[in-house]
Amino acid sequence: MGKVRIGVIGVGGMGSAHCKKVQEIEETTLTCVCDVDAQVAEKKGQELNVPFFTDYHTLIDSGLVDAVIVATHHWIHPEVAIYAFNKGLHVLSEKPIAVTVSDADKMIKAAKKSKKVFAVMYQRRTEPTIRKALELIRQRKIGEIRRTLCVEPWYRTQAYYDSGSWRATWAGEGGGVMINQAPHGIDIFTLLGGLPSLVQAKTRTRLHRIEVEDEACALLEYPNGAWGYYYVTTCEAIGPYHMEFAGDKGKLVIRGNELELYTCHPSIDEFTFAAAGMWANLEVKEEPVELPQGLPTGHGAIIQNFARAILYQEPLLSPGKDGLNSVEFINAVILSGKTGKPVKLPVSRCRYDRLMEELKRTSKPKETVKVVRETDPKFKQG
Ligand SMILES: NC(=O)c1ccc[n+]([C@@H]2O[C@H](COP(=O)([O-])OP(=O)(O)OC[C@H]3O[C@@H](n4cnc5c(N)ncnc54)[C@H](O)[C@@H]3O)[C@@H](O)[C@H]2O)c1
Repeated sequence: MGKVRIGVIGVGGMGSAHCKKVQEIEETTLTCVCDVDAQVAEKKGQELNVPFFTDYHTLIDSGLVDAVIVATHHWIHPEVAIYAFNKGLHVLSEKPIAVTVSDADKMIKAAKKSKKVFAVMYQRRTEPTIRKALELIRQRKIGEIRRTLCVEPWYRTQAYYDSGSWRATWAGEGGGVMINQAPHGIDIFTLLGGLPSLVQAKTRTRLHRIEVEDEACALLEYPNGAWGYYYVTTCEAIGPYHMEFAGDKGKLVIRGNELELYTCHPSIDEFTFAAAGMWANLEVKEEPVELPQGLPTGHGAIIQNFARAILYQEPLLSPGKDGLNSVEFINAVILSGKTGKPVKLPVSRCRYDRLMEELKRTSKPKETVKVVRETDPKFKQG
């Protein structure tokens, strides 16, 4: 195989940007597109000079593709991916891989059975701060993690929510900020800090005219007894996002593109009992951190890595099975927010399915929608 032949399914805001990347990357070629909206599919096909389809089954069965990128609304990611795996194709799914843990399980099972490459678009994993933070955690520079913190403002206007009938509805999207904006941060937060075993959350709709949550917070407990705090919102406009991982030998702080590493000698556990003085101070040093230079970043890096995994078995930066962690976390926060009770992870599959069915039943179609399929300007440059 010279180049991986890719079809993009769902060519709205995000899918359109992926089409361009696929045409630019050395290892990939865009061979067709698909959108359930016939006008959108035709326009994109003509613009990019490739065949277009309005039914993903037809694209997958066309013989034109080795792999697909799934960029439809989240509820549909699993059914498209499973159909593609069953037909022997590789799949790169947009985030979140699924709305519910039960659907995510089915997707991962189908991927395993097919032995095809399965990746998820968690492009923040390619950022130098995150690559370096992961390396430092793996080197155990901060020792065992005892506390975590994640605060993420993802400001959104009402016009954003009004740009699609599926957006910010239980039936169309399966949640609000938790299912749409939060997955990227949760992926990084759980990649670096692990998955909690217990979540006690609050969710609410504070600012926007939507039926789903635009704000969520949670207290977390981890299997080793560590505690954490999580907060996400689309109501706050001032960033950057902030994460902390405090261990017994140091602390990592991520603020947007900045990464700080503090270490203490000896470890807090040792010093606490060895120190004789009543006011003895533990020596804390801020260590210089050198971020990796020149590595590819963003959506393009994930698509290229996906293609190289197919062509040369390059290890995946963002394996599809890792996508389950963010879905577990999201489901736990929404379930706890709705019931007011703590939720254990792994989340009960049937309990969450029941909750979603209830919420979808009471979900109301939006009254005023001006459909806009527009790529986020920050993804247009590179
Ligand atoms: N990784 C990122 O940075 C990032 C950024 C934005 C959105 N996303 C994800 O991308 C996905 C799409 O979001 P968007 O903002 O592009 O939405 P959008 O509404 O602009 O585009 C979605 C497209 O999918 C099409 N579609 C729906 N059902 C389909 C089906 N059964 N078959 C074929 N096409 C179908 C719609 O007609 C629409 O054109 C979401 O899952 C979202 O979470 C990821």
